[in-house]
Amino acid sequence: MSPFLITRTLPEDATEAALRSDVLHGLTRTPKTLPPKWFYDALGSELFEEITALPEYYPTRAEREILAARAPEIAAATGARTLVELGSGSSEKTRHLLDALPDLHTYVPVDVSASALTQAGRALAAERPALDVHALIADFTGGLTLPDTPGPRLVAFLGGTIGNLLPAERAAFLASVRSLLSPGDHLLLGTDLVKDESVLVAAYDDAAGVTAAFNKNVLSVVNRELGADFDPDAFDHVARWNAGEEWIEMRLRARSAQTVKIPALDLAVEFAAGEELRTEVSAKFREERVRAELAAAGLGLSHWWTDTGGRFALSLGTAR
Ligand code: SAH
Ligand code: TRP
Repeated sequence: MSPFLITRTLPEDATEAALRSDVLHGLTRTPKTLPPKWFYDALGSELFEEITALPEYYPTRAEREILAARAPEIAAATGARTLVELGSGSSEKTRHLLDALPDLHTYVPVDVSASALTQAGRALAAERPALDVHALIADFTGGLTLPDTPGPRLVAFLGGTIGNLLPAERAAFLASVRSLLSPGDHLLLGTDLVKDESVLVAAYDDAAGVTAAFNKNVLSVVNRELGADFDPDAFDHVARWNAGEEWIEMRLRARSAQTVKIPALDLAVEFAAGEELRTEVSAKFREERVRAELAAAGLGLSHWWTDTGGRFALSLGTAR
C-alpha cells in the first residue's frame, strides 16, 4: 500500500465557529440564506453520490464522457506530476485523469467532507501503490496551503462546483487558485452550460426526491451541530431557474408560519408561511464568461471541450 496521509487544516472548533457565524448571519438577514458547504456531512455526501446517478442529473455523466475522451490530451498538455483536486468528493471521475497522467507522483484531494475524503483516499492508495495520496480536509475558499510536491501542478475543479459560488466569490476563488500555480501550470475546470429551462430544473428537482432530501439535510446539520429544532418536513424543496443571473436557485419554502429555536446561538428565527430560505445557487455558463473569468484571474483558456450533447464543458486554463 502506498502512503495515504490525511491532514486536517480545519480544526473542529474553527468549523463549528464558522457554522455558527454563517447560520447567525444567514438566518437573520432578508432573504434568509445558508451557504452550501454545510450540505456535506457524511449523509449529505452519500446523498450527493445518489444524485450523480439520477436519470435527471446529467452533469456527472456528461463530464465523465469528456474526461474519458480527453484525458490523453489533458495529460499531454499539462505533463502534471502533482494533481490537486478541489471538492474531490468520491474522486470517482478523477480515475480517468489518474490513469492517463504518466508522470503523476502525488494526488492531493481537498474537501470539507472528512468522510468522503477518507473513503476515497483509502481506496485510491490501496489500488495505486505507486501514487502518493495526500488528502486535505480544508475549505477551498479559505486560502489553501498545499504540500510541497513536484511540479508541474494541475488543479482540477470538477462537477460544476464553481457554479455554487456567487460571482464575487468566484473571482476571489479563481485568483486564489492562480496563486497556487506557477506560470505554465494548469487549472482544469468543469462548468455546466446554459440550456433549456426544463432540463435544468429537472436536474435539481428529481422525481425520486433525492435532491429534496439533500437540500433538507442542511437543516439536519444545523439541528445536530447547533441544537436547533428545524422540522425538515415543514419545508418544501424548490428549484427555480433565474434567467437574469443564469443560475438555478435551490430554496426551502416554509409550509406554514413557524419559529425555529437555535439554542447554540440563543436565537429564535421566525418564518412566515411560504417564506423561502435560499440554500444554493448553481450557475450555468457560456464559453465567453468562462474565458473572461479565467482571464481576470491570470489564466488563459487553452482548451474548451464539451460532451457530444453540448451540455457541459471542461476548460483547461494555463497560468500566465
Ligand atoms: N467533484 C465531485 C463532487 C462534487 S460535489 C464530483 O464532481 O462529483 C461538491 C464537493 O465539494 C463535495 O464533496 C463537498 O464536500 C465539497 N465542498 C463544497 N464546498 C466546499 C468548500 N468550501 N471547501 C472544500 N470542499 C467543499
Ligand atoms: N455542484 C453541484 C451542482 O451544482 C451540486 C448540487 C447538485 C446541488 N444538486 C444539488 C446542490 C442540489 C444543492 C442542491 O450541480
